Amino acid sequence: MSEPLTMRSGPDKHLPDASAPAAAGPAVAFEGLSVTFTHPDGGRHEVLRDLSLEVPRGQFIALVGRSGGGKTTILNVLTGLLAPTAGRVSVLGMPPAEARASIGFVPARDALLPWRNAARNVEYGMELRGVERDERRRRAQHYLHLVGLEDAASRWPWQLSQGMRQRVALVRAWAVEPELLLMDEPFAALDADTRQSVRLKFRALLADGPARSVIFVTHDLDEAVLLADRVIVLSGGKFAADTPVPPRVGDDGTSDELTGDHLALLRELRNSLRDDPAR
Ligand SMILES: Nc1ncnc2c1ncn2[C@@H]1O[C@H](COP(=O)(O)OP(=O)(O)OP(=O)(O)O)[C@@H](O)[C@H]1O
Ligand SMILES: [Mg+2]
Repeated sequence: MSEPLTMRSGPDKHLPDASAPAAAGPAVAFEGLSVTFTHPDGGRHEVLRDLSLEVPRGQFIALVGRSGGGKTTILNVLTGLLAPTAGRVSVLGMPPAEARASIGFVPARDALLPWRNAARNVEYGMELRGVERDERRRRAQHYLHLVGLEDAASRWPWQLSQGMRQRVALVRAWAVEPELLLMDEPFAALDADTRQSVRLKFRALLADGPARSVIFVTHDLDEAVLLADRVIVLSGGKFAADTPVPPRVGDDGTSDELTGDHLALLRELRNSLRDDPAR
């Protein structure tokens, strides 16, 4: 993953450059995935029940569901942090823990290292993977520019707004050019206007270069339909909907409005969430 787990100063030889080709196989595949947590009082909580899914390479999936429904639990399984109670899981054709170097991760907030400026934060994930300095500088500059942060490269995290910080975190994960990007409600901490503007910047990033495999967790159905190729609704431990999104206009980050087919899809997805008991 591109998120720092430990502090290091030099490149980490154990993490190859994530842009190097990984093993064959879909971006994500699981079959019969179940996760049950056992609480200290002996009570058992079945969060995911016999789920199966295949995500082809290059597809952008939005995973939607109510709070407590198990979305983050799925991401934890995909990064190898959590072993499922049952089921087979592969990420980029490998067991999840082995695929980590090819995964980028964007959390909801607080991802930046306070002692590094914006550009050096972006470079951090690449440093861990041994991307050489000139290439790190080039990618940091290129991607910061794409999200409108070219003038903020030398600012410290405390000098950036929350929306700017989230864009830096996004670019840090993106600049590693990971085979698979996992995003856990990356825009949830932003107010509605900032959220929309960051989302447009993200769409500009998506339009730049080859399609990436993305799993984007969100509460927000509009956001799911605006960004994804396919929307999956998690409800009551099961997938209640798995629907392709029709092509959108303005996918280069110039428009952020839903019309026609997309509004109909939104209504359909709202219905599939309506009776979800999770909180
Ligand atoms: N390590 C754990 N031990 C015990 N219970 C857990 C653990 N991780 C998650 N849970 C429980 O599993 C359920 C699903 O949690 P999860 O974080 O996956 O939900 P979520 O869909 O991401 O919710 P949110 O939208 O609020 O982030 C919750 O009831 C949570 O308390
Ligand atoms: Mg969560």
